[in-house]
Amino acid sequence: MKSRVIGTGSYAPEKVLTNYDLEKMVETNHDWIVARTGIEERRIAADDEFTSDLATKAAQRALEMAGVAADEIDVIVLATITGDYPWPATACIVQNNIGAKNAYAYDVSAACSGFLYALASADDFLMAGRGKKALVIGAELFSRSCIDWTDRNTCVLFGDGAGAVVLEAQESESGVLSSHLYTDGSYLELLYQPGFGVRHQASQEGIEAKLPFLKMQGNEVFKHAVRMMTEVSKEALKHNGYTSKDVGQFIPHQANIRILEATVKRLKLTEEQSFINVNKYGNTSAATIPIAIDEANRGGKLKEGDLALLTAFGGGFTWGGTLLRW
Ligand SMILES: CC(C)(COP(=O)(O)OP(=O)(O)OC[C@H]1O[C@@H](n2cnc3c(N)ncnc32)[C@H](O)[C@@H]1OP(=O)(O)O)[C@@H](O)C(=O)NCCC(=O)NCCS
Repeated sequence: MKSRVIGTGSYAPEKVLTNYDLEKMVETNHDWIVARTGIEERRIAADDEFTSDLATKAAQRALEMAGVAADEIDVIVLATITGDYPWPATACIVQNNIGAKNAYAYDVSAACSGFLYALASADDFLMAGRGKKALVIGAELFSRSCIDWTDRNTCVLFGDGAGAVVLEAQESESGVLSSHLYTDGSYLELLYQPGFGVRHQASQEGIEAKLPFLKMQGNEVFKHAVRMMTEVSKEALKHNGYTSKDVGQFIPHQANIRILEATVKRLKLTEEQSFINVNKYGNTSAATIPIAIDEANRGGKLKEGDLALLTAFGGGFTWGGTLLRW
């Protein structure tokens, strides 16, 4: 018995923010951004769009591909750190929007690793026999939540978007083979959003100190991301008796082309094996992997029986690797 992906979907807001647009907002330029990050443009949600709207559209597309009605879903797990409200979970809004009246729904907060945490959680649910079908979503709206649009160090990196997969428990050799998840909270302050929460409650002084904005030590994050994603990818392959040569598609978290290239090189993967779309969307945090899975799937890059190796790294620090047979 395995949790098999039977449908994928994604949604990127219509508005495109190019590097040239950013040149008019902060002291930066297209060539610097492309050389250091590989990002050419990113999507920005419309004023009347919320994280739940992006997630709902991605989920509906995944359900449509799967040919599954919303009321057949037993559980919805949504990965986000930019939910509509502090609580309740954005998954509750999506559950209502799509009419998944038989599902219980909750959010997972693991920053850019969120989708892999959510996928493992849904896989555990199905493999424990608690249900037959799960909807796993990654959705983020960074542009209106934690981006300081005057900070060139961070504002060029992120974008908005959502992706989703429908999982079904099937008697099959295909599906999730294994998930390997890690956390090291000692690195928290290298990548985090200090406010507003319980530790730093909303205040005028807090706004002036820019607490609601993402803080990051880019160089440190970069080094750890390459090392952790490489190690955990190797672990996922070894655990299942495979090597890099067996991988059909490597679908890593899309944060920065240089992180991806360094990881691909260390894993001895080829360009053809690696799915990269960071140029179009930037870092959409928990949404990068499900968006990439959907694009790879719809683009015919994932054939039945192919091995898909997923890996992510993010704030916490959190990281993970998942091996799937398509
Ligand atoms: C952020 C990142 C692109 C910066 O690249 P870098 O090569 O490390 O660059 P540095 O931080 O050394 O900065 C080099 C210079 O470029 C400048 N710079 C930073 N952002 C810039 C921008 N958007 N445009 C132009 N110059 C910029 C810096 O101010 C610095 O100038 P200085 O030397 O005069 O101080 C890179 O560290 C990175 O991608 N880190 C990982 C980030 C990430 O993926 N986070 C999420 C993980 S889930």
